[in-house]
Amino acid sequence: MWTDNLGDCSEEKRERFHPNITCMKAGHQGMLEWLNSLYKKHGPVFRIWFGKDLMVFFSDPEDVRQILSNNKLLKKSKSYEIAEIWLGKGLLTSANEAWQRRRKLLTPAFHFRILGEFKEPMEDNCQILISKLREKANGEQFDIYPYITLFALDAISETAMGIKKNAQMQSESEYVKAVQTICRVLHKRLFSFWHRFDLIYRFTDAYKESIEALKVLHGETNRMIKLRRQMLQDTNIHNMADAEKTDDVGGKRRLAFLDMLLISQLEGGGLTDLEIREEVDTFLFEGHDTTSSAMGFCIYLLSQHEDIQHRAYEEAVAMQGREKETMRYLEAVIKETLRIYPSVPSYSRKTQEDLQIGNITVPKGVAVSVLAYMVHRDENSYPEPEKFNPERFLANDKELHPFAFVAFSAGPRNCIGQKFAMLELKLALSSLLRSYELLPVKDFVPNPLAELVMKSGNGIQIRMRPRK
Ligand code: HEM
Repeated sequence: MWTDNLGDCSEEKRERFHPNITCMKAGHQGMLEWLNSLYKKHGPVFRIWFGKDLMVFFSDPEDVRQILSNNKLLKKSKSYEIAEIWLGKGLLTSANEAWQRRRKLLTPAFHFRILGEFKEPMEDNCQILISKLREKANGEQFDIYPYITLFALDAISETAMGIKKNAQMQSESEYVKAVQTICRVLHKRLFSFWHRFDLIYRFTDAYKESIEALKVLHGETNRMIKLRRQMLQDTNIHNMADAEKTDDVGGKRRLAFLDMLLISQLEGGGLTDLEIREEVDTFLFEGHDTTSSAMGFCIYLLSQHEDIQHRAYEEAVAMQGREKETMRYLEAVIKETLRIYPSVPSYSRKTQEDLQIGNITVPKGVAVSVLAYMVHRDENSYPEPEKFNPERFLANDKELHPFAFVAFSAGPRNCIGQKFAMLELKLALSSLLRSYELLPVKDFVPNPLAELVMKSGNGIQIRMRPRK
């Protein structure tokens, strides 16, 4: 048993843990660069102390397999508790039976058959994006990221929540700004020794900022729930059987994810009001921030690689209207983007007992973290890892280790919105490619920041021209 003081970091204890594992203090600025340098120095396993908390990072696909497929390793690490102020005990942060119950209830809402119903509102929002971008398609440099986030927010609000938000019609969104604030503040708290103490944190400006942001975030989710509940009342829907009947004009009713939660509650077996709000907060955040990040980096990479863009464009033209089907090339482009820029660069679990991973025994109560950012840079799986080459996912898909690509995590706690995200990305990127040529901006390189979701600190600078 490993029973030492976690705050201590003596050479002797390091040896007992693993000869390669290092002892570090956190609070670093360029987090990804720092993790990258630790990986280069120590190999695919290393440890970091955050104050008295120990985190062990893994990047070898075989170790990752052992972590993500372990049914006894489903509890998220302590770092997720920081997000509970916003997301409560929603699907992302919850554990044990509470998580199991919610996952079972929420999974059918993201079944692929239901996703088909989301295609139309997603397409409508793609059209708004295309028309909004028209003013920028003049060959001049601009940052496309704000357009993308508003699009992604509209897409998740209209499909999953059944609320037409029209964020794209405004130049900026209070909700998006509040998400940016809370992500920044929570991330800072995660890596600041002093901010971890509640008593100290409550006297900081960051705390005041987070309270203001939470007012906006929870205000918006409460508003959405109220609106949708009213709609169910007005249309006399009290259970699933009512919902499945045709609407007043004989059409099939489109049920949003939120409707399913509200109807299960009416039927008596669902979530409480607070639990519903936690899920709406979780899905609104996860559903727009991660996809915006992926779309932004993908647009950047396509703008830099004319040949790849051309091939994706030809497929987009050939597959117009059939984007729900396999689009082999664009799917490979999206995966290759997520390989280089995983929207969630690392995620972690807390060990409930001593655990053997590879040749290391990780003690009970420690955070084990999958460093997707480095798993995706493993030269054995991906020769020349910094090179953007979608062919990797066309040619050797089968030869690739099944845990060498973990942008959506894997195993029982994988991303529930993966199919939703792929459909949205395929629809949006193919409409964009059919409408505009994406051109590079000389010397622009994004500056990826590992906040809760990875984003480019200097935006996504591109140039665009309408297609002839
Ligand atoms: C490119 C887009 C996306 C990426 C790369 C992504 C990635 C991930 C990853 C890595 C996890 C595991 C996180 C962890 O273990 O802490 C996760 C979980 C989750 N994702 Fe996604 N995600 C994406 C889009 C979405 C969308 C569109 C939704 C909702 C509509 C969504 C909802 C969730 C939820 C609720 C969880 C928690 C699942 C659980 O713990 O049971 N994600 N996602």
